[in-house]
Amino acid sequence: MGKNKQFRFTQNATFDHVVQPGYQELREDRFPLKGRWKEIHFERDAPIVLELGCGKGEYTTGLARLDPSRNYIGVDIKGARIWRGARTAMEQGLTNVAFLRTHVDHITSCFSKDEVDAIWLTFSDPQLRKARKRLTSDLFLERYMAILRPGGSIHLKTDSPVLYEFTMEQVERHGLLLLEHSRDVYAELVPRVPEQIRDMLNIRTFYESMWLQEGRKIHFVQFELR
Ligand SMILES: C[S@@+](CC[C@H](N)C(=O)[O-])C[C@H]1O[C@@H](n2cnc3c(N)ncnc32)[C@H](O)[C@@H]1O
Repeated sequence: MGKNKQFRFTQNATFDHVVQPGYQELREDRFPLKGRWKEIHFERDAPIVLELGCGKGEYTTGLARLDPSRNYIGVDIKGARIWRGARTAMEQGLTNVAFLRTHVDHITSCFSKDEVDAIWLTFSDPQLRKARKRLTSDLFLERYMAILRPGGSIHLKTDSPVLYEFTMEQVERHGLLLLEHSRDVYAELVPRVPEQIRDMLNIRTFYESMWLQEGRKIHFVQFELR
C-alpha cells in the first residue's frame, strides 16, 4: 500500500465521524449504531440522509452545508476516498456529517426500519453487464424499503443513459411515485426549480466534473418507494 493511502487509513481510524464496522458485527446483526445513529452518533433527533457510493463525499458535505437541519452520512467501501470527505467536513466545521465505510450490500445491517429520510445515488457504477447489481435493481430497492421512512425519496444523479433508463423502467414497473426526472439536469431542471433545490442539484462530484468536461449530459431521477 502507498504511503499516502496508509496515512489516510491511519487518520480515518482517529476520526470520530468515520465509522468502520467490522464484517463480523454486521454479519451477526450487532452493529451498535443500527437504529441509534441519531441518539448515539449525532446526539440529536434530526433526519438522516445517505449518499451511497459517496466517493470523496461531495454530496454528503455539500448537502450538509446547505441543510444543517439534517444529518448526512456518506457510505463507501474505499477508505482513502472517504478520508477526503471526512477532512472536508472537519475543515468546514460540519457537525452534521459522518462517513460509513462499508459495502452497500450491508446497508440493512447498518440502519433499521424507517431510520433513513432520503437516499442519494451519485454517479453509481451503471453495471452494464449485471443489472441486478445496479443500485436501483429490485435487490437494492428492497433494501432501501427496509430502511427508508414512508415518503422518503431516492435521488439518482448519473451520466449513464443505461442506468437512467433502467431506473425509469423500475419506477414504472413497480408503480413507484416519480417526483422529478430529466435527461439533462442542467438544461432542463436547474433553470426551473426553486433556489434551494437548485443549489442541491448544482453540487458537482469528482466523477461528475470529469463527465461534464467530456461534454456528457447529466441525468436525474427522484422517486418514492411508497
Ligand atoms: C463512480 S464512483 C462515484 C463516486 C462519487 N459518488 C462521485 O460521483 O464522484 C463509485 C463509488 O462507489 C463506490 N462503490 C462501488 N461499489 C460499492 C459497494 N458495493 N459498496 C460501497 N461503495 C461502493 C466506489 O468505491 C466509488 O467510490
